[in-house]
Amino acid sequence: MGVKLGILGLGTVGTGTVQLLLDKDGRDPLLQEIEIYRVGVRSLDKPRAVEFPLEVLTTDLESIVTDPAVDIVVEVMGGVDKARDLIKKAILAGKHIVTANKAVIARYGDEIFTLAQQVGVYVMLEAAVGGGIPIIQPLKQSLSVNRIHAVTGIVNGTTNYILTRMQTEGSSFDDVLADAQNLGYAEADPTTDVDGLDAADKIAILASIANDCRINLEDVYCEGIRQVSKTDIAYAEKLGFVIKLLAIAKRSAPNVPLSVRVHPTLVPKTHPLASISGVNNAILIEGDPIGQVMFFGPGAGAGATASAVSSDILNLVAALKTERASNQEFHQFKNEPQSQANLQNPLLTCRHKDYCQIVPVAELVTRFYARFLTKDQPGVIGKLGTCFGNHGVSLESVVQTGFQGELAEIVVVTHDVREGDFRSALTEINTLEAIDSIPSLLRVL
Ligand code: HSE
Repeated sequence: MGVKLGILGLGTVGTGTVQLLLDKDGRDPLLQEIEIYRVGVRSLDKPRAVEFPLEVLTTDLESIVTDPAVDIVVEVMGGVDKARDLIKKAILAGKHIVTANKAVIARYGDEIFTLAQQVGVYVMLEAAVGGGIPIIQPLKQSLSVNRIHAVTGIVNGTTNYILTRMQTEGSSFDDVLADAQNLGYAEADPTTDVDGLDAADKIAILASIANDCRINLEDVYCEGIRQVSKTDIAYAEKLGFVIKLLAIAKRSAPNVPLSVRVHPTLVPKTHPLASISGVNNAILIEGDPIGQVMFFGPGAGAGATASAVSSDILNLVAALKTERASNQEFHQFKNEPQSQANLQNPLLTCRHKDYCQIVPVAELVTRFYARFLTKDQPGVIGKLGTCFGNHGVSLESVVQTGFQGELAEIVVVTHDVREGDFRSALTEINTLEAIDSIPSLLRVL
């Protein structure tokens, strides 16, 4: 008996997925068991890379999620409200779900997984984070015996592309963004990417799986890359760092609250994430006893994302096959009519129910980089040092190499400090007569 798919959406990811599923030669033999039964599209008239018989295509997406013949609903339509609604209707109709929709899962994972558990269906989301990089199933299965201390990722290709070009070309954010938009690497409205929102959705999902708890998206601190200047990239370079937009979920010790955040970060050039360039993504997992393990690859694109979506579909096909076979055996043995037994594989489900306690950003302990523009007069560096000292902020380095017009440019890197203390020091520094401005403030890994 085959497995029937109802696919919602035939955009880039949907088309990539059906192309992969139909091109079976040399791939997993389980693909033979899959039938693309219904495909939901916005318009029936649009020319398409893959032609389907008329009875397969429909603009009535609700009819797919409630169709009794459909086993798995593959949601690759994007958007939030409509997708959330269809996923929930599909679950209530007893369908297993495969989704690439990080925005829906990060916001509504709670209600979706609760519903899925009640009904006894799987919700799979490998494609929601890291495009083609396998990271969800490795966290759920291969690494789940580890205590995970930290997940640190470059999970947004657009911002990594922009920062890489700013670094290699010495260009400004605005210039590279405009060019990236012309080349199709950045959206016309780049907000979701450049303001860190896409990365925040992704780290909320990773943090939840790695720490076996739910994450309230509003607790995820989020800062994008608009304020990263070419001057800071050049200073970072001189100091031995590159600037990356990192998504971090980290515990400083076992059983303490988790810090979950997205912000541009100075990364030491020797760190494994420092060399990840262009649109690529990488996720570094640190756990006990595994130590460090890093996943690297294409974070977006039709083929890469289709690979992740299809891996979820195959996992479900395998689970359904096993479930159907054991149901049949059981009912033959008991001589009872066949019914759907709830034989869920716990390594494929989402089992956690409680929310994680998240560290407020003022309590975060991290190193900082700050750039000051000051009057060029005796004693300024001393005054800066005194203000930092007043708030218990210890400095790792202080450099003054440049001028901007009449103003001296002083760059400071701190040792680990509580963010609240660092901010209090800055408030005091801002009152100094010699201080013109503090154009940059970045965290250091
Ligand atoms: N917009 C994302 C990125 C890809 O730039 O990485 C989809 O998750």
